This record gives sequence, C-alpha cells and structure tokens, in this order.
Amino acid sequence: MKVNQAEIVISAVSEKQYPEARYPEFALAGRSNVGKSSLINRLINRKNLARTSSKPGKTQTLNFYLINESIYFVDVPGYGYAQVSKKERAKWGGMMEEYFKNRETLQAVILITDLRHEPTEDDIQMYDYLKYFELPVIVIGTKLDKIPKTKRYKHIKRSKKVLEMDPEDIFIPFSAETSEGKEDVWNAIRSFM
Ligand code: GTP
Ligand code: MG
Repeated sequence: MKVNQAEIVISAVSEKQYPEARYPEFALAGRSNVGKSSLINRLINRKNLARTSSKPGKTQTLNFYLINESIYFVDVPGYGYAQVSKKERAKWGGMMEEYFKNRETLQAVILITDLRHEPTEDDIQMYDYLKYFELPVIVIGTKLDKIPKTKRYKHIKRSKKVLEMDPEDIFIPFSAETSEGKEDVWNAIRSFM
C-alpha cells in the first residue's frame, strides 16, 4: 500500500468529537507499551506521526489518523498499565465501550500482542470483549525481530491457542523494527474494505 498522505485529525475522548463516519475505520488496541503507535508509524512510513514512547500510557485519547483520504486508523489508549487509578480505569472503559459499540464504520480491530510472551490475561479479556461486540479482530504478534527464527512458529501457535482465536480471525507476525509482516497487515486491512 502506497501511503501518500497521513494526518492526525483529532484526539477524541467522546463520541461528539469523533470525525464524521465517512471512511472505513480500523482501531488499534493492545496493552500499554506493546507497540500500537509504532505499528501505525510503520504502516504509513512515518517516523513519529503517532507518538511513541518507552514509558507506558502515552496515548490517553482516541487518536484518529486519516490515511490517503480513504481510511481512518484509530490509536486507542493501551490497557493493563498497573499505575492507573480505579477512576481512570473506569473512564477508559466508558470511552472504549462508547466507541466499540457505536462506531458504524469500524470494520475490524487490530489487536496487538507481544509475540515474545504468551498473551496476558488482559489480552485474552480484550479479545473476548471485542468478540462480544461481534467485531472482526486482526491479531498482530509484534516484536518478531526479538524472536530467533527457529522459535517463531512455536510462539505464533502458542499465541493463537492461548487467545482461543475464532477461526475467522487472522493472526499476523510483525515487526515495527524490520517491517516484516507489513504487507500482510495491509492485505488483511484491504480484505475488510
Ligand atoms: P502506549 O501508547 O503507551 O500504550 O504504547 P504503544 O502501544 O503505542 O507503544 P509504542 O509504539 O510507543 O512502543 C513502545 C516501545 O516498544 C517503544 O520503545 C518501541 O520502540 C518499542 N517497539 C514497538 N514495536 C517494536 C518492534 O516491533 N520491535 C522492537 N524491538 N521494539 C518495538
Ligand atoms: Mg501509543
């Protein structure tokens, strides 16, 4: 996919602020610091349009990115970050539910997990939560560059199994460091457009 144009449209905290629902939309969910913003940047070939950080909890709002005047990517705040108050967690839950439940143009959710490790309890919960809303999920196992080639298959198989993935959902190993898997991610996105 050739990306000619990518811009942040708005950082929203509630439905009133979402941009008009006129393009197919894909949300990126995943644990705090797993690499959501890095994946967006890699897909669109920008170094730092989506702000990345080694500190978890950087993205706190629903950030809408318009790509090629034809797709929205929505970077959603990460979950599973321990240093979050109960109040903040409730706010996060409300914001997510409002979005996942009501957004008509949302085609699929890209759920990012760390391929080095087994999906966490939070990852499993998030996957189940998305399936509860009957959303297609594209699961990405990121940080593939950190896993020796001989062990990759084992990690992929384990991730799918632990998540008890719906056979209709796609799993893609990926690295924001080396771009491996990037075209597979674009192909998966295209299959929902
Ligand atoms: P929050 O917005 O805080 O939830 O984080 P995020 O999920 O957007 O993560 P972000 O993209 O900011 O990346 C977190 C850290 O992981 C950064 O230091 C990235 O450089 C690193 N990282 C992300 N993807 C990869 C990858 O594929 N390989 C390696 N080696 N590092 C990665
Ligand atoms: Mg981020």
